[in-house]
Amino acid sequence: MKRVTYISRFAKQLSGEEINEIGRVSQKNNSRDEITGVLISTADIFYQEIEGEEESIDTLFEKIKRDTRHKDVLCLKTEKNIEQRRYPKWSMKTVNIDAESNILMHPIRNLFQVLADSYGVIEKYTQPTVLKFVTNGINPLNIPSRETKKIILFCDIMAFSYFSSILNVQEVVSMTNTYLTACTQVLDRSGGEVTKYMGDCVMAYFDIEQADEAIRAGLDMLSGLERMREEVPKDSPLRFLHTGIGISSGSVIEGNIGSATKLDYTILGDAVNQAASLESLTRCLPRALAISQGVRDLSHGEWPFIQLGEYELKGGHDPVPVYSVDLLITEKPTNPLEIIDEISRTLEGTRLPG
Ligand SMILES: Cc1cc2nc3c(=O)[nH]c(=O)nc-3n(C[C@H](O)[C@H](O)[C@H](O)COP(=O)(O)O)c2cc1C
Repeated sequence: MKRVTYISRFAKQLSGEEINEIGRVSQKNNSRDEITGVLISTADIFYQEIEGEEESIDTLFEKIKRDTRHKDVLCLKTEKNIEQRRYPKWSMKTVNIDAESNILMHPIRNLFQVLADSYGVIEKYTQPTVLKFVTNGINPLNIPSRETKKIILFCDIMAFSYFSSILNVQEVVSMTNTYLTACTQVLDRSGGEVTKYMGDCVMAYFDIEQADEAIRAGLDMLSGLERMREEVPKDSPLRFLHTGIGISSGSVIEGNIGSATKLDYTILGDAVNQAASLESLTRCLPRALAISQGVRDLSHGEWPFIQLGEYELKGGHDPVPVYSVDLLITEKPTNPLEIIDEISRTLEGTRLPG
């Protein structure tokens, strides 16, 4: 059996009668589906535990997540293969803490508020990989480091320093956030793990069998940004939002890397440096996507690969062949100054330098 514990916030104010109605429907459906659990509400927060056969719980949790009466559904814990129910007699015990007069309910109400507030913040600042471990009941601190093979992808904004010199702080932040959101959405959809943001740079990795997914993600990022450039107003800096992408593969060390006060669950190794190096190389290449020979060889897709020459990459000794995909979407000016020129010509007069 499986147990899922989550918290969420009311989408709008709900009356006691409306909350009871959720409880009534839940009890009816849950006794039919052999699901048990508890639903607690206080102020604008729901806390729920649902337990039962894995398939029934997955179906119900999907349905609950889509319910428009609440929002910000945040899974706190998923327990698989549980042998005993915690609430065998409750098809869904519904408790509205605010309606209870017992003074002991006050600290419990506070506890739920603190939990919802702090988890909401922690979720935003925590690496998705780490959050996934925690919600699956795994303590990432106990995972031993290991050597493994990965596909690594780096991308960042072209001419970012120039943008920072002509845009105000809010515009720089907004542009960077728009870019990071767009890239992360593509990477999430493609099965990649976003492991780090470093300023305007995204580092992600894929399993070694996912070379095609990584290439597809790179192309999707380029076409997503192209669509964005066409849709935004003429004087928006997003019209000039271009990215460079580097993809490499190889052996890496995966584990908890950092200090006693700040840890990342991430990967380390020459293959990581090579992806960063390929990404930097795109500045001076005629293509925005640079792929290593290893990734090309691992791919099973029918990509029209094109060799861009041989280059020495960070972490390597000899020049190695660098590839791209020969599609219109990967083409870009070879000289980075041409992009800056285009930006300054178009935005000229609307912005003051510095
Ligand atoms: C906070 C919250 C908890 C819910 N819990 C359950 C539940 O345990 N079981 C259930 O069947 N529906 C639950 N629902 C309702 C479902 O989202 C959905 O509206 C309902 O299952 C549809 O039932 P029906 O198919 O009988 O109309 C919950 C909704 C909310 C907002």
